[in-house]
Amino acid sequence: MAGRTSPTPMSRSLAESSTRAGLPARLHYLVTGGCGFIGSHLADHLSALGHRVRVLDDLSTGHLENLPDRAELVVGDVADEATVRDAMRDIDGCFHLAAAASVARCNAEAILTNRINLAGTLTILATAARHAIPVVYASSAAVYGANPATPLAESSETRPLSVYAADKLACELHAAVASHLHHVPTVGLRFFNVYGPRQDPASPYSGVISIFADRLASGQSLVVYGDGAQVRDFVFVGDVVDVIVAAMAHRPSGAFVCNVCTGEGTTILALAKLLAEITGVRAEIRHGAARAGDVRISIGDPRRLAQVYGRVPKTTLREGLRELLGRSVAVRRSAASADMSLAPPEASRP
Ligand code: NAD
Ligand code: UD1
Repeated sequence: MAGRTSPTPMSRSLAESSTRAGLPARLHYLVTGGCGFIGSHLADHLSALGHRVRVLDDLSTGHLENLPDRAELVVGDVADEATVRDAMRDIDGCFHLAAAASVARCNAEAILTNRINLAGTLTILATAARHAIPVVYASSAAVYGANPATPLAESSETRPLSVYAADKLACELHAAVASHLHHVPTVGLRFFNVYGPRQDPASPYSGVISIFADRLASGQSLVVYGDGAQVRDFVFVGDVVDVIVAAMAHRPSGAFVCNVCTGEGTTILALAKLLAEITGVRAEIRHGAARAGDVRISIGDPRRLAQVYGRVPKTTLREGLRELLGRSVAVRRSAASADMSLAPPEASRP
């Protein structure tokens, strides 16, 4: 996937919009998971706005080359108290994104990932409480789980289907307790399925769009788990970063949670077809066994997002995929003059 090219036109336009969102200038932020997919776009963006950025990351799924040049890196475990205490020194706000982000991996390695996802978040909240540091943290649409409602609003019942989802819901409960007991200002963002440049396709646990794009580029078949009729609300990373920054600037009282979604659903089969159409590659689709704990339909209600933060993600799936594939192809070509089976995409957005 594409490497870091900061400041990109995307990050410049985000910088303008988040300045409008009212984040005070030149503060010092901690981004946990800042070498990962979403965290590195956030760190880039904060840095481009002139903020000081410290990243805490253990580099388990993140990459050093994602780190903005000016950011300070603490390599360590977010569940280790002493590490987090040091990382939070002289910090004005914490964006907590570090986690084991794969639903399937968490089901397979529950005890290890529970420590990262739940104990890690508790460590962040407890340390933030000591220094009255506001925390914006990544929750997930996965908390809605088996709830068949469409679209899913924040008031919809949570019915976790996976270890990952149960841990994310527990993070929200701990945020509520930290807010109640210690007045820690928190915002939990229930991201739906985020995609874009730098989502690493390397592991079978990676996000579906990064895996499909990578396999199309190397002429491999696409493996659809189950019948492919499962639905996701795909949201572009640039739009997500915009919301994360706005959430630090505006924190409603109590332990606030908010969906980050588009309100549009796409089946996995439709996604495979759209990717094939945009790239011009004829994709062979194979079906594998459905994943245990896989959510069937996940479409978010973006009304709270619009009301509280005045924004609904605006990048369509087609636009976002073009941006992703344009960068992916450009990087691969310059890296190795590879024999690309991928047709050039239509002009990528600036
Ligand atoms: P990612 O794997 O790219 O990033 C996670 C980062 O956390 C990586 O850089 C990794 O090295 C780091 N990390 C993992 N364990 C750590 C530990 N013990 N200590 C310190 N750092 C550690 O994943 P992402 O897609 O960027 O996800 C970011 C956050 O957003 C996660 O909390 C994830 O659960 C959440 N989320 C992601 C999506 C999505 O679609 N990508 C959707 C909903 C929620
Ligand atoms: C994703 C995120 C998770 C987040 C959740 C919110 C990742 C790795 N996971 O989980 O952090 O909390 O969204 O909704 O970013 N699939 C295939 N073939 C593949 C890969 C996946 O058919 O090669 C299917 C899966 O079975 C699933 C769908 O695609 O139905 C999406 O899978 P995936 O990208 O792993 O995301 P989620 O499990 O939805």
